[in-house]
Amino acid sequence: MSARREAELADLVAHIQKAGGRAHALVCDVADPEAAAAAVRRADELMGSLDMVVANAGIGHASHATRLGVEEIVRMVDINVRGAFATLVAAIPIMLAHQRGHLVGVSSLAGRRAIPASGAYSASKAALSTFLETLRLDLARTRILVTDVQPGFVETPILEGARNPTPFKWPVARATRYIADGLAKERRVVSFPLPLDLLTRLSRVLPAGVYARAVGGFREG
Ligand SMILES: NC(=O)c1ccc[n+]([C@@H]2O[C@H](COP(=O)([O-])OP(=O)(O)OC[C@H]3O[C@@H](n4cnc5c(N)ncnc54)[C@H](OP(=O)(O)O)[C@@H]3O)[C@@H](O)[C@H]2O)c1
Repeated sequence: MSARREAELADLVAHIQKAGGRAHALVCDVADPEAAAAAVRRADELMGSLDMVVANAGIGHASHATRLGVEEIVRMVDINVRGAFATLVAAIPIMLAHQRGHLVGVSSLAGRRAIPASGAYSASKAALSTFLETLRLDLARTRILVTDVQPGFVETPILEGARNPTPFKWPVARATRYIADGLAKERRVVSFPLPLDLLTRLSRVLPAGVYARAVGGFREG
């Protein structure tokens, strides 16, 4: 497991070890793509192989176009895009050498069509989903699987202070169970909940003007 907060990682490692599992903590800020890639290589050394790599780290907060700052855009792209891309790409040569593996990116339904007042987040997830699809095409003749996880809303700290509505929100336990089941079934895309999955599918085929009227847009404030 890898993240920035050492104490939380240590707690999780202890929890997994107590349950009879094997875990290591690697403190890393994926905003530094070299550090993200180094963490993946270190995980391979520690575990002896990489069955699955999950590029999960992400930040997100809604910001209306009139309030978007360059600093927050850069931070979003550094973590959600560059960090995720670097994590996934670093695993490919290792998985090719082991002749198997599973690459997973945690994107979002927000990547399917522009979400009002969430331009940077929505675009970062669209980039990740497109990247994952390309990896799947490029690796089709290998034994490396690629899964794009596209959640709707899940009750985690990322939603704290959310200004946009968060319909059909799932508790963490339900979401993690659903994702784990989808990964075990080797699905290409794991998306939920069904109502938002269907609505966002529909949104992709709507002409721009119809979509704009449907979502209404958000005024500043
Ligand atoms: N919750 C939702 O409604 C929702 C919906 C769709 C998609 N997602 C996606 O799901 C993923 C997980 O989010 P979450 O909902 O679980 O949010 P969260 O509770 O805020 O968790 C974010 C995780 O990413 C790690 N992280 C953040 N920045 C990092 C960095 N620079 N380097 C390394 N690790 C970093 C955090 O650990 P540290 O702080 O210790 O680094 C934490 O473990 C994200 O990619 C998010 O976009 C969430």
